[in-house]
Amino acid sequence: MAVQSSPKLITIDRHINEEQDLHPEATGEFTFLLHDFTFAIRLIEREIRRAGLTDILGLTENMNVHGEAVRKLDQFAYEVIYRAMDHNGNLCVMACEESKDLMKIPERYPKGKYVLVFDPLDGSSNIDVNITLGTIFGFYKRLDPTLRTDGTEEDVLQPGRKLVAAGYVLYGSSTVMVYTTGHGVNVFTYDPTVGEFLLTKRHLKMPKWNNQYSVNEGHYYKWDSKFQKYIDFIKTPSPDKKRPYSLRYVGTAVADVHRVLHYGGIFMYPADKSHPNGKLRLIYEANPLSFVIEQAGGKATNGEIDILDIVPTSIHQRTPLFIGSEDNVNELMEFLNS
Ligand code: AHG
Ligand code: MN
Ligand code: MN
Repeated sequence: MAVQSSPKLITIDRHINEEQDLHPEATGEFTFLLHDFTFAIRLIEREIRRAGLTDILGLTENMNVHGEAVRKLDQFAYEVIYRAMDHNGNLCVMACEESKDLMKIPERYPKGKYVLVFDPLDGSSNIDVNITLGTIFGFYKRLDPTLRTDGTEEDVLQPGRKLVAAGYVLYGSSTVMVYTTGHGVNVFTYDPTVGEFLLTKRHLKMPKWNNQYSVNEGHYYKWDSKFQKYIDFIKTPSPDKKRPYSLRYVGTAVADVHRVLHYGGIFMYPADKSHPNGKLRLIYEANPLSFVIEQAGGKATNGEIDILDIVPTSIHQRTPLFIGSEDNVNELMEFLNS
């Protein structure tokens, strides 16, 4: 039986190795990093899939069958990523949503040339109701890659343009990892029966436009009038039937951006009276998501400049975020610039 026309079966590890072969100067350190990172993701995925059961099997509200305290999933995800990544010798520092300060590599382990930033669990408010969650991540090279000392705040506060790799994991009806090193976006789907992420979409490009929008419209009266006018416009029926746009909002940025990546449209978390700088965090939410969307042919802005061009000034700084298909973002900008 002929099998020549079947697509290549390829795991994420093999894909990363192949990408490394394109860079003769590569030392393989990054390949190890990604390997350890996807191991942490496998552990988080397992915990998420059992989240409902942990309660049922627990002896008390806070104890599981092993008599251990049931940790909140976002704390669990944070710890697992840190513990999988702190000792491989390739990172010099980490930063994440759950840690106020920089996360240092323990003294006993060697330091490397990469920096990891991450949101261990995105969409925390959806954990208890079985709705899609995510993990967001980005890797930078430290400012002086020859150093083997602890990384510094300056190493973390680099603009998104400097990301060497970024992506997100979406724990949905299946678990997928969407990943880019700046050479297109690839999608890997997790097969839990063999414990592997398999390449399912190569060089994904997003639609140029779609009539779908995603925003927490409950904040309407706290928005500025230009943004209100844009929302009014996209909801007003037009003779060509392109409007009204349809509203889709999960409340997990990873899920909302993932839908936009596939179907097109726009996801927005603007500034409002209660969130003067928006709600989402620049370094470990907006930047990695924006890198993916740009690589797929879309756009991401804070309303003034591209998200990836913002020079961060603090680890947990927030930013307004408007992200999606090129034509949708351009249409919004006409209102914001009016
Ligand atoms: P996190 O769970 O990491 O704190 O992030 C939640 C974020 C993001 O995922 C989502 O888009 C946004 O919060 C939703 O905010 P609202 O509930 O204000 O709409
Ligand atoms: Mn988040
Ligand atoms: Mn989070």
